[in-house]
This record gives sequence, structure tokens and C-alpha cells, in this order.
Amino acid sequence: MMTRLTTLFLVAAGCAGSDSDVLVPLPPIAGLTAVPDTDATPDVVEVSLTAAEMSASFVEGTTTPVWAYNGQVPGPLIQARVGDTLIVNFTNDLPEPTTIHWHGLRVPDVMDGVPAIQDPVQPGDSFRYEFVLPDAGTFWYHPHVRAHEQIERGLQGMLVVHEAEPLQDVTQRAFVLDDVLLDESGAFYTFDVDNSHPLQVHGRNGNTLLFNGRTEPVQGTVTPGIPERWRLVNTANTRTLWAEVRGARWRVVGVDGGRVSEPYTTERVRLPVGRRYDLEVIPTGREDEVALDVALPTAEGGWDRYSAFTATLDWTDPGTGTPPPWPVVEPEPRPEPEQEVVLTFDGRGGGTNIEWTINDEVWGQHDPLEVRAHTPTRLVIREASRAAHPFHLHGQFFQVVSRNGQPVDEPGLFDTVLLTGDDEVELFSMMDNPGRWMAHCHILEHAARGMMTEMVVLE
Ligand code: C2O
Ligand code: CU
Repeated sequence: MMTRLTTLFLVAAGCAGSDSDVLVPLPPIAGLTAVPDTDATPDVVEVSLTAAEMSASFVEGTTTPVWAYNGQVPGPLIQARVGDTLIVNFTNDLPEPTTIHWHGLRVPDVMDGVPAIQDPVQPGDSFRYEFVLPDAGTFWYHPHVRAHEQIERGLQGMLVVHEAEPLQDVTQRAFVLDDVLLDESGAFYTFDVDNSHPLQVHGRNGNTLLFNGRTEPVQGTVTPGIPERWRLVNTANTRTLWAEVRGARWRVVGVDGGRVSEPYTTERVRLPVGRRYDLEVIPTGREDEVALDVALPTAEGGWDRYSAFTATLDWTDPGTGTPPPWPVVEPEPRPEPEQEVVLTFDGRGGGTNIEWTINDEVWGQHDPLEVRAHTPTRLVIREASRAAHPFHLHGQFFQVVSRNGQPVDEPGLFDTVLLTGDDEVELFSMMDNPGRWMAHCHILEHAARGMMTEMVVLE
């Protein structure tokens, strides 16, 4: 087999600079356009994002007025390396205030883009976000003001923080998976609360799946036996998505908070809104295409499948099928908890007056929950309303310990976990990022109707 060109390039780049600051360029990620880094300093990534109205065509023959970052839906890929400083010069050209929240990034709370701390950026104004990227992984960014409308309209993008030494021989692909609710003209269905609409009753389920902003599957070419890394995020308002891979051996190698210590195989991954998975995919060459399918459960207990990506095989220079040498990730310790927080998710009222609560309060009337930083913490999240809620905590990662008292094997660090209705999930966190943090349901219509609270992590 030929030596792969990327290896040669890696060696060449390593020798070229006498300056030890010269780094190997970040590996490309197929599927999204990356926003240019305008700062030449090796450990600083500086980008500009502008949110503005524009139009897109999701469904052939129709036009959808969207809100976009840099004219793209989804927004451009932001990529950097762990430990870099990320600077985002943000301009709001929308007709209403907004912020950018960095979903999953353990940034300082003043940079977290939540209106409880940062005054929203007014139309015509700018804000400079600046923070260090403490963790490698697949993250995303989106507004935290009227998010149920702003994210649905297109304000969402992937943010990849590469490992210190990213594997250069692994092709990377990004998949931003979304569903939107469009009317016949292609416009977004009304954002007024309309619980008579069957898809809106418990949050806005879309009627149109988008894969990197398109209804058609992303196309590509893969090489049998050559491993790839696929990064998935579910950016829908409400709908949980499942994903499956065809024509390849595949494993989960990363979740919300980065690489897992033990990659594992599974039949399909379940992505509640906000969740990310990194998959290692090795095309077998036994089928004539490799695909990523989004699977949605049917009422009859089966699955409807929609291809998000289809690739033909290129047999010119096949690989051996050997998994890449992933750098070792130590399993996260889980010491005995020294403090506990309980959050009960519930609802009250009905129809268009429904309110979604955490610990019997809606956002605005809530009592912030206080915990000590850098302390082993048990989080108990209870579901009392029989509805499913993806719980999301800002600023920290947690491990999933048990569901309904049964220990679970869901390895890795998360910032989002799905309550499926009438259940109790036990989480563990070290609470290692002091500050004021949102804790909320990531079904954006539930959040808009109260299902958010604040966790104060005291230094
Ligand atoms: Cu994805 Cu509070 O956010
Ligand atoms: Cu909810």
C-alpha cells in the first residue's frame, strides 16, 4: 500500500518551521464550510460571525426566509485546537436582540451567552466573545434569546475543538442534523403558540429533516478499509433523532464531552436535542455504498429511515481496516458524592396555557440552586410530567450513573441527557467550573415556557 499523502504532509510540515510555534494545520472536516481564522498567532483563533436575515431554499421550488450566521444555514464550522483562545467578533444584524451560547464548552460564565449574565446584543451592535477552549470535542453554538425561534430559523453551527495532536490520516465529516416545521410555501410555520397543530403540542417537531442545511443526503466518496471520524449533532428544537451507519464497521468514540475511554459498538445512537456523537466508521467494502441514516421510530414499533449521507466506494487505494491509534483517554473517576441536587421536571395547566416547571417553578420565579465547586456531586433529575425532556446543564460535564435506580453503561462525559418520561436519572459531576449556570430542558418550547433554572457553583 502507498504511504498516504497526509502522512508525508505531516512530516513535511513538522520539519519546515524552525519556529517551534509552527503547528500542523488542523485536519479538514468535510460537510461544512469553516470560518477563516484571521489571527496568525498559532494558539489564537479569531473569527467573525454576523447574524442576519436572508433566504434559503430547503425544498426545491420554495424559498424559506431564514436567519443565518455569515449567510449560511447551518452557520460556518468553527474549529480550533484544545487550549487555544477563541475570539468571536459577533455582529447582530437581526431585527431583534440575540446572544451566542457555546453549547457544551466549559467557558467562564460571562462568556456563556446567556441573558441572565450578558445583556443581549441589540440590532446593529457587536460583542466580542473570548475564551480558552479547555476540552477537545464536538460542540455547537446557538442563540440563548428566544431560542425556540432563533435556532429554528437557522442560527446554529458546529464548533470542533481538535485534540492537541489530531490524527491526520482519519477523514473527518460533520453532520448537523435538524428538523424544521415548514408550511406549504416553504416558510417557517408560525412561531405563535399553536397547540392545535399536531406537531407543536409538546414542542415543535419538524416536518422536514435537514442534513447540513439540505433535505437531500450529503454526497461523498469513501475508501474501503480507511477509518473515518464522523461528528454528529442534533440541533432540532424538540425531536430526538437516532442515527445508524450502513456499509461499515462503526463504533462510538466520543460523546458530548469528548472522546470516551472505551469505544463501543451499538445498533444505533440516540441523539436527544443538543447531543453529539463522534463515530469511528470503517467502510467494509461489502456493500456498494456507505451511508448515515437518521432513524425515526414509527407508531408500530419499527423505524423509518432517511439518508443523511451516502457515499460511493473508491477502490483505488483501499486500507487494511485497522482502527486508528486513538490517543488513550483515562476513564473519569467517580468518587463518593459529597453533595446532592434534585431537579424535578413537571408541567402544569394545559392547552395554550401550559407551563413547564423545574422544582415547581418557572424561569423568573425560580430559586437558584447552590452547590460547591470542585466537589463530587450527585444530580438527581426526576421527570414527573410523563413527557420526555432532554436535560442540559451549562458549564459542566456529568456522567450518567443510573436510570430508575439501575446502573447504566453510558460511558463518557455529557452535558445533555434524555429523560424519557416518568423516570429518574442520576448523574455525577465534579462541578469544576464555578459560576452561574443555566440548567434547562433543551426542548426549546419547554424552555420558553418556563423549564429553566439556574445552578450557582460557588468557588
Ligand atoms: Cu444548547 Cu442552554 O443550551
Ligand atoms: Cu422539556
